[in-house]
Amino acid sequence: MLQIALASILVLSCAAQSPSTGPPSTFPHAYPGMPTTSFGPDWQKYFEVTGQLPNVTGPIARSFAGNVGVNRADHPNATLFFWAFEKANGTLTGSAADTDPWMIWLNGGPGSSSMIGLMTENGPLQVTGTYSIVQNNFSWNHLADTIWVDQPVGTGYSTSDATGYVPDEDQMGEDFVQFLSNLVKIFPSLAKRPLYLAGESYAGTYAHCTCDHLPPADGCLTRLQPYITKTIFSTPNPPVSLRKIIVGDGTLGDAATFLYVPTLTTIETYPQLIGYDPDVYNYFKTQEHLCGYDLNFTYPQNGHFPTLKDPSFGSSPSFGGATKARSKLSLKTLAEQGGRYQASSGITKGLLARREEWKRDLSNRPNGTLDPYYGCFIYDELLDYATNFTFPWTLGGIDVYDIPDALNPEVPSDPTVFMNDNRTRTALHAPTSKNWTESFGFPFGGLANGTSFGDPSPAPMVFLSELASNASARGVAIVFYSGNDDSLVAHRGTEAVIQNMTFSGVQGFTRPPATPWSDDKGNFAGIVHQERNLTFVLFKGAGHLVPNSVPEAAFVFVREFVLGSNQTGLVNNGTGSVVGGESAPLEADVMPGGLAIFYGDGDFATTTASTIAPSATLAAWSEFIASATAAGNVSDVGKSNGGATLMSPLWHVCAALCVGAGMMSIV
Ligand SMILES: *[C@@H]1O[C@H](CO)[C@@H](O)[C@H](O)[C@H]1NC(C)=O
Ligand SMILES: *[C@@H]1O[C@H](CO)[C@@H](O)[C@H](O)[C@H]1NC(C)=O
Ligand SMILES: *[C@@H]1O[C@H](CO)[C@@H](O)[C@H](O)[C@H]1NC(C)=O
Ligand SMILES: *[C@@H]1O[C@H](CO)[C@@H](O)[C@H](O)[C@H]1NC(C)=O
Ligand SMILES: *[C@@H]1O[C@H](CO)[C@@H](O)[C@H](O)[C@H]1NC(C)=O
Ligand SMILES: *[C@@H]1O[C@H](CO)[C@@H](O)[C@H](O)[C@H]1NC(C)=O
Ligand SMILES: *[C@@H]1O[C@H](CO)[C@@H](O)[C@H](O)[C@H]1NC(C)=O
Ligand SMILES: *[C@@H]1O[C@H](CO)[C@@H](O)[C@H](O)[C@H]1NC(C)=O
Ligand SMILES: *[C@@H]1O[C@H](CO)[C@@H](O)[C@H](O)[C@H]1NC(C)=O
Ligand SMILES: *[C@@H]1O[C@H](CO)[C@@H](O)[C@H](O)[C@H]1NC(C)=O
Ligand SMILES: *[C@@H]1O[C@H](CO)[C@@H](O)[C@H](O)[C@H]1NC(C)=O
Ligand SMILES: *[C@@H]1O[C@H](CO)[C@@H](O)[C@H](O)[C@H]1NC(C)=O
Repeated sequence: MLQIALASILVLSCAAQSPSTGPPSTFPHAYPGMPTTSFGPDWQKYFEVTGQLPNVTGPIARSFAGNVGVNRADHPNATLFFWAFEKANGTLTGSAADTDPWMIWLNGGPGSSSMIGLMTENGPLQVTGTYSIVQNNFSWNHLADTIWVDQPVGTGYSTSDATGYVPDEDQMGEDFVQFLSNLVKIFPSLAKRPLYLAGESYAGTYAHCTCDHLPPADGCLTRLQPYITKTIFSTPNPPVSLRKIIVGDGTLGDAATFLYVPTLTTIETYPQLIGYDPDVYNYFKTQEHLCGYDLNFTYPQNGHFPTLKDPSFGSSPSFGGATKARSKLSLKTLAEQGGRYQASSGITKGLLARREEWKRDLSNRPNGTLDPYYGCFIYDELLDYATNFTFPWTLGGIDVYDIPDALNPEVPSDPTVFMNDNRTRTALHAPTSKNWTESFGFPFGGLANGTSFGDPSPAPMVFLSELASNASARGVAIVFYSGNDDSLVAHRGTEAVIQNMTFSGVQGFTRPPATPWSDDKGNFAGIVHQERNLTFVLFKGAGHLVPNSVPEAAFVFVREFVLGSNQTGLVNNGTGSVVGGESAPLEADVMPGGLAIFYGDGDFATTTASTIAPSATLAAWSEFIASATAAGNVSDVGKSNGGATLMSPLWHVCAALCVGAGMMSIV
């Protein structure tokens, strides 16, 4: 997948700036012809991208780019950089009907540029491993005018003076709404047209997590769309007409919820991680239970989940420092290595012997105790186990964002050269006072807090129910989506947030997400579930960067379930029936991942080195996991054939065999 781009998603702020130097002062560049008037349609001509972009051959949609201020008193250089692509010539500049949708795409961070999304995920120009640029047939601007925005101020080509960096997410939301108020002066049709605000991740959570502590409930969240939406709702006459917010692989919950709760379902999705070993599975299941991370989903949800234990629970005093150090180390390593978690030792010599030793340690340990070293850091423990003992991860790394991708080293997709070329810079009216970087450690509050650069804002999950209630009152719908192969911000965590959240007066989904959907070729693309204006989509075969992994399925998803009103997966809360039906195997907590794990160096799409376990191993595992998951399975009280949610052994084998061939035949 995307080595460099992924690195940018995880950002560490602690070491990013030294307090003595502080964050840089940057400012927009005034190119010839810049209007001297305040923002209005006359700025369109200035922002239009007319210069030749390097390496871009062939026609691309008309686009507009540059910096627009956020109207912050005393901070005239606080601006956001945007690059807007039209759906068709003229759609952004006036001829569009009030009903024509438009989209905004935001990458996370905070401090990650949305040009990463534009150039490696869902934009019209995609950078390749050789730094050439190719066109993307599945760019989202083919469906609606789409604007990629670098934010908060200071990110990517957005600018800020040294003291203008936002101190928290409320200021971020305020800046963004002010930016929108200027944008609609430049493109007046956008004020009335329905806005679809989309984005992904926000692992900038780690900027906070790794600095001081791993907070159970106060950091570590996807904040962008929830906070912007919150600001729009509290703005008396909002400048735009928000229709939907779309959050992909979002860190909506606290660390325990999004990072640790999914550990066991990640193993069930990719049992390759533990070498299909039932003993190891049972071990992790016990650890999960001892930590209270074995949340039971019921449909409808039976009461709220408890507040979860901090992951450091159960670690020995000696682990205290180690806990922080470990988390710091692993996350820092991840940031540096593009989401790759390095084995503490990559050697394979004596591997089997060491594994047996490790397992003997387990059986000698009194049952019902947590590992004294890892405590409830069970996800870290899983990553260590895989890189310690399981081929091919023993070769050096594991991509936490895309489990089947064990390539190492991997060809990067890196927009840096293109973005910093002076021809690009000039064509995009980008600043000359800074260079574009994929990511930087966002310095919340500037220098006011010394080295403590963490984002102090609370978790969206604490206000999501209220947000949903306001959204519903204003006709704003919510879409959450996840890539099934993302282990870091895994779908289980998102589903836990949904089941614990109240929307349209009811808590959680009343039926398990289990309706299949397909791409335009009829290939099984994953699960879609829609209830009370909340849509959840799980993508098969996709890592964290869903539009990069499965561009065509992501395109169909946007067309049908974001912009469109395709009702597949929609629950009729009166009758309990579901449009498109439900597939019993899909009702399980887990959608099995692919069989093959790719390794070696090169490119995920073209590499030929891969490994698949022998069929006897797969069959034995299927039998084992069917009985292991039967006992603690979902109690499906809303369903007439209640309880019939077991994962059949056949399902595992078949799902595995059917990968790539489409699974419609069995659902
Ligand atoms: C867009 O339309 C204008 C005329 O309205 C034309 O001059 C221009 O070449 C067109 N641009 C593209 C990219 O098609
Ligand atoms: C804003 O940028 C201009 C350069 O364009 C600079 O002269 C000015 O000092 C900056 N203002 C602040 C408040 O940093
Ligand atoms: C989930 O259910 C299992 C089996 O009943 C139980 O042991 C476990 O404690 C439950 N989990 C939580 C978090 O309550
Ligand atoms: C679930 O919601 C309750 C009530 O809002 C809250 O106290 C608890 O922390 C939440 N638990 C999780 C895991 O989200
Ligand atoms: C713990 O339980 C496992 C089986 O679940 C067993 O193999 C092991 O011997 C037990 N260990 C102790 C110390 O009782
Ligand atoms: C992985 O290996 C390291 C170094 O040998 C060891 O300290 C650690 O306990 C192992 N962890 C797991 C989960 O295998
Ligand atoms: C253009 O593409 C070539 C490879 O085809 C690459 O070497 C070069 O760095 C690229 N230049 C820019 C400005 O993107
Ligand atoms: C790019 O433009 C900047 C500012 O105009 C100039 O200082 C720099 O020398 C240029 N770089 C190249 C490689 O042309
Ligand atoms: C941008 O990068 C170039 C080349 O590395 C460097 O010469 C220049 O000083 C940088 N500009 C800024 C504003 O940091
Ligand atoms: C500094 O940090 C403290 C504690 O997190 C917070 O209350 C305060 O608002 C921060 N100040 C600034 C200027 O960000
Ligand atoms: C869903 O949204 C539509 C359109 O805004 C609204 O009419 C409907 O009442 C909402 N349904 C629920 C259950 O909130
Ligand atoms: C809804 O989307 C699905 C994609 O799975 C597609 O097969 C179906 O044709 C769409 N329905 C309509 C009415 O367009």
